[in-house]
This record gives sequence, structure tokens and C-alpha cells, in this order.
Amino acid sequence: MEIDLALIGMEKGRQYETIITTNDCENVKNAAPIGVLYAGEDKILNRIFKGSHTLNNIISQGEFVVNITHNPKLFTSSTIGNLPQDYFSEDNSLKCADAYFKCEVISLKEAVTQSDPIRKTNAAMIIKSKVTHLIIKKPTKAINRGFSYVIDSLINLTRFDKVGEDKKEEYLKRFKEANRVVTKVGYTEDMKAMSEIKKELIKKGYEP
Ligand SMILES: Cc1cc2nc3c(=O)[nH]c(=O)nc-3n(C[C@H](O)[C@H](O)[C@H](O)COP(=O)(O)O)c2cc1C
Repeated sequence: MEIDLALIGMEKGRQYETIITTNDCENVKNAAPIGVLYAGEDKILNRIFKGSHTLNNIISQGEFVVNITHNPKLFTSSTIGNLPQDYFSEDNSLKCADAYFKCEVISLKEAVTQSDPIRKTNAAMIIKSKVTHLIIKKPTKAINRGFSYVIDSLINLTRFDKVGEDKKEEYLKRFKEANRVVTKVGYTEDMKAMSEIKKELIKKGYEP
């Protein structure tokens, strides 16, 4: 079966925020928000920190499910605690996911480079996987963080001339972080927008 992740808005080379569900050898199910990089065709990549249930389960079972949802409660509950077992379907997906796809691990490698502020002592693994089934329950698009950062940066830009120097410093720091994330995960249009915002900040005499 040919898998087309474009059906859920995924574009090759972009990163999306998803909830990965796994199970352990005693069939206890686990959910955690995890970024997914679409590597094209039927391949995806994840970078997962050591010590998480998700990584341990992926290593022991060799398979997992990527759930697409826009439900803030699911993201929050699966980050801060454990989702109750009755949130999961028999096939390990989340009952209220808009769409999900099943993955089989192809390779696991130690992560050697990174482009975020996480301390290097926090070891992670890069997992390459093959997507085997895509199930779309309702039309949806996987979450990409880029656009929210563009909106946040635009709001700060409109407030820039109305705030004191301390707040301007804070906005510049936030812009730098937003620009780092958009450059890493955003769409070309998001990057273009960030570059326009940067030009405006430079015109105001700042060096973001
Ligand atoms: C939106 C979002 C994306 C995340 N992406 C990742 C990721 O790509 N890799 C990772 O190791 N942790 C990621 N995390 C952190 C894990 O979800 C978090 O450490 C979680 O507690 C792991 O749970 P587990 O032990 O049940 O696997 C992310 C968190 C959020 C909120």
C-alpha cells in the first residue's frame, strides 16, 4: 500500500508535533508528545531523549503509532502525566485522534548533533521508521509550530514602539528564539515572514 502523508498536510523535510503511542512488553500503553520529521515517501525520523517510556517501548517493540490531534488537553495530560488506558484503542492509537499512522523501526542511532538549547549531556536517539498504515478519521493537518511563532512575533512587533526598553529586550530575545524555531521547523513562507519582521526590527535600530 502506498502511503501519502501529504493527505494529512505533511511536507518532506518539515517537523510536526504529534502524540506518539507505544506499548511495553506487558501491553501497558503510553502516550507522549513527540516531534516527527517527515523524511519523504514512507519514512519519518524522530529524536527521542533517553530515559523516556516512549524510547524504551520503541526499542523493545520496534513499532509505534503517530497520532495527529489538535486537542490541547491530550498534549498536556500526556506531557505532565499518563493518559488513562481507556483513551487508547485496541490497535494502540488514541481513540480521539483525527488521524494516525503506524510505524515500524528501520534503524536506531545515537544523536550526535543538535540545533536546540538542550544540554549535550542529555543523550538522545535518532529513530528512522517506515510508515505502514495511515488512517484518517476526519480531515486534519499535522501541527507545525512555525506559523504560531510568526503570529507571536508579529504581535510583539506591533507592540514594540509602545513598550519600555526592558520589554523591548524581552521581545528581541523572543524574536531570536522564534526565528531559531521557524528556521528549524517552519515552512518557507513562515521563514520569509520572519525575515520581514527582522527587517522591521533592524529599521527601528535593533539587531535581532
Ligand atoms: C509538543 C512537544 C513535543 C515534544 N517532542 C519531543 C521529541 O521530539 N523528543 C523527545 O524526546 N521529547 C519530546 N517532548 C517531551 C516528551 O513528550 C516528554 O519528555 C514526555 O514526558 C515523555 O514521556 P514518556 O516518558 O511517557 O515517553 C515533547 C514535548 C512536547 C510538549
